[in-house]
Amino acid sequence: MCIFVPDSTAQALRKKMLFSSCLLWKTLIFISLAVLLTDFTETRAFANPSECKSATIDDMNESLEKYSKCFNEMIAKGEKAPINSLVWRLQETLDLLRPVQEKFCKQLPPCPRPLAPRNGGLVCVTIDNAQYCKPMCNKGYDFQFLRRSRLYEVCGNATGFSWTSQLFGGKALAVCNPSEMAVSGAKSAYFPANSTCLHTLAFTETQTEHLNTFLKELGDQGIDSSSRDKEADCIICG
Ligand SMILES: *[C@@H]1O[C@H](CO)[C@@H](O)[C@H](O)[C@H]1NC(C)=O
Ligand SMILES: *[C@@H]1O[C@H](CO)[C@@H](O)[C@H](O)[C@H]1NC(C)=O
Ligand SMILES: *[C@@H]1O[C@H](CO)[C@@H](O)[C@H](O)[C@H]1NC(C)=O
Repeated sequence: MCIFVPDSTAQALRKKMLFSSCLLWKTLIFISLAVLLTDFTETRAFANPSECKSATIDDMNESLEKYSKCFNEMIAKGEKAPINSLVWRLQETLDLLRPVQEKFCKQLPPCPRPLAPRNGGLVCVTIDNAQYCKPMCNKGYDFQFLRRSRLYEVCGNATGFSWTSQLFGGKALAVCNPSEMAVSGAKSAYFPANSTCLHTLAFTETQTEHLNTFLKELGDQGIDSSSRDKEADCIICG
């Protein structure tokens, strides 16, 4: 998950990428350590059925938030074996969480669910039976193909309910490759340095900000969003 760029000329980029790709790990280790501490007084390894019944994702979020501040100290004191175990368990947990996150996005039938670029995401809105998705890359990444004047991809009646894309085959709408420069896309098609797609998705305000920017851009291109399906507003991270 923590990606290393072998090219020695890319020192600055490597630093940036290490920063962003390690955020996920940091988050994961937060969770594990928080859970570890929460259960410190418990001698049983697993929760019993009634404990499982009353446990909620809100509890998990709260523990995480609570211990997130002491993350660095906890890691520094951590032993090899529990850290290895936690990394595995957190990865498994994340593998369960990510598909659920995707399902929270309402899909326009019969358009297939679009695939968000890894290291980026899609900002999607549905207007008059057409779904518009704007591909975005995280800081440290750039689009594989030039798309400065191609702000979004669309699926609807006019496209025969299949996705437009610069890529052949599959449902991927764009690709974000590691790059020191962000030049292939429009200025607004990049998440800022301090907020990846996943970070954006975790906060209502940043989500709204990106959705509003996209709606304004669609308006500038003559697409009236007054009749949009607000429930289908969504950000999908790759
Ligand atoms: C997660 O937990 C923190 C700490 O209790 C709380 O401030 C925050 O609102 C929670 N976030 C969500 C989305 O529930
Ligand atoms: C759907 O597309 C077809 C062909 O492009 C067109 O004839 C028809 O009017 C469109 N229907 C709607 C509801 O836009
Ligand atoms: C990111 O930085 C900008 C500009 O410095 C600031 O306005 C914004 O609040 C920051 N966002 C986050 C999520 O830290």
